Amino acid sequence: MRSLLFVPGDDERKIAKGLASAADALILDLEDAVAPQRKAAARELCAATLASGNARMKLFVRINALDTPAALLDLAAVVKARPFGIMLPKCRSGEDARLVSHYLTALEARDGLPASDIRILPIVTETGGSMFGLGSYDNPPIPRLYGMLWGGEDLAADLGAITNRDEDGRYAAPYLLARSLCLFAAAASSAIAVDAVYTNFRDPAGLKQEAIAGLRSGFSAKAAIHPDQISVINEAFTPTAADIEAAQQVIAAFDASPGAGVVSVGGKMLDRPHYRTAQRVLARAAGA
Ligand code: COA
Ligand code: MG
Repeated sequence: MRSLLFVPGDDERKIAKGLASAADALILDLEDAVAPQRKAAARELCAATLASGNARMKLFVRINALDTPAALLDLAAVVKARPFGIMLPKCRSGEDARLVSHYLTALEARDGLPASDIRILPIVTETGGSMFGLGSYDNPPIPRLYGMLWGGEDLAADLGAITNRDEDGRYAAPYLLARSLCLFAAAASSAIAVDAVYTNFRDPAGLKQEAIAGLRSGFSAKAAIHPDQISVINEAFTPTAADIEAAQQVIAAFDASPGAGVVSVGGKMLDRPHYRTAQRVLARAAGA
């Protein structure tokens, strides 16, 4: 999975456009993109969209935060239509994700669905407090945990910041820390790390730069807010022919020396971590 497109859960036109896009996943949003008086209608539309079976991509539903009464109403409305996953915003720690997992277990039983089928993709850096919960996702493990998304917009609002970017347009230090800690937390939990949205949707060059930087540091995918962003993200996260060839060379060098811990390719020392990285490139290529 390379690209995840947010779609307001009450907007039929955008949902149709999202379903027709090349995104690898859609996130049907019930939270911030939907006004309070539209939440009930949005739940019905999201459930109908899931039930229609029209999607070739993975479908997630972003529910409302657990400290609002809407969260349980959201889950009660959409679980029966079997989303691929639930996105949990404002997730404070592993405890929040575990609570959603228990809710899902109960609702799967209610609706006669296979147990533990629906995944969880929390947004793990949206408040100052959530930063201190990032060490709590792996112990005990959460089998439903599919990935983790970091976000810099709500975090800036929580911190009282004027902006989350420096004058040169790059993320300021607190947000770079959040981004890095999301990567570490995801790796600790064997979950995929998903890079934050790039809100300037008329700037494909800036998006491309940020997507490639994300890939280079370990993100598997990037979230999007506009269909125009999908091709840029998909391309950034798809290994090129040269990437694949280089990875195949690394694998071949190890295969040619079974039992060797270290080999050399093109004058460079390669050991176990390089082998893992090469495998990851080939897995990404196969998935793309
Ligand atoms: N998913 C699907 N379709 C979308 C879309 C999205 N996220 N964003 C825009 N589109 C559609 C528009 O409906 C429009 O379709 P049309 O030509 O059939 O009318 C087309 O793409 C072009 O849209 P454009 O005019 O460039 O943008 P806009 O001003 O209509 O919308 C936003 C701008 C930001 C409001 C819109 O992109 C959006 O709603 N994004 C998602 C917001 C969201 O979910 N946020 C929560 C998570 S951060
Ligand atoms: Mg938000």
